[in-house]
Amino acid sequence: MRIDILSLFPEIIKSSLEHSIIKKALTNDQIIIKYHNIRDFSNNKHKKVDDYQYGGGSGMVLMIQPIYDCIKKLEGERKYKNIIYLTPDGEKLDQASCNKFSLSKNIILICGHYKGIDQRIREHLVTDEISIGDYVLSGGELAAAVFCDSIIRLIPGVLGDESSALTDSFQDNRLSEPIYTRPKNYEGLKVPEILISGDTKAIEKWREEKSLERTKKHRPNLI
Ligand code: ADE
Repeated sequence: MRIDILSLFPEIIKSSLEHSIIKKALTNDQIIIKYHNIRDFSNNKHKKVDDYQYGGGSGMVLMIQPIYDCIKKLEGERKYKNIIYLTPDGEKLDQASCNKFSLSKNIILICGHYKGIDQRIREHLVTDEISIGDYVLSGGELAAAVFCDSIIRLIPGVLGDESSALTDSFQDNRLSEPIYTRPKNYEGLKVPEILISGDTKAIEKWREEKSLERTKKHRPNLI
């Protein structure tokens, strides 16, 4: 998979993806992320990338030219199935869409800033508009990092134990069951007996029950 990210602040994204499992996937060349600073594509002699809104209104808008030129350059080099704009008014990212995007070969991510990007990019170049939640961030960078992390970990071979992505919360519209590790008893706080019983069938049943119980309690909308 190759992900091209257009941003004014690529360092924010880069630093979030430089750790643990994702870092390993990126150093293996299994996933390539390329960062493109939108400012580098500006034709303006002062490298200006934003301007006032037509019709008035507060907040600056990212201009069409640098984003358009950057996307056209990338499209001249390879085919992109998904050109994604990260925006709070996009479709909410969930595990099902992460699964879908993780199958994509080439993805472009556009991070907005200030008031957002010129609508013509959204209408004519963008294929998907994605939000990571109903709140407004100061830019799309953190959303891009969330997007990348959530799809990269689904790519076969990225997680050591491949089954662990399948047992994540949400994979089957259920929250995951409670999990424990050693010691069995810490300051009187005990691990449920069933988990140390060795009865694999009973453990499986307990896990299913707990998963359903948690989902009903915390996210009944998933059922
Ligand atoms: N940019 C600003 N806020 C955002 C959000 N909630 N999701 C995606 N991109 C954003």
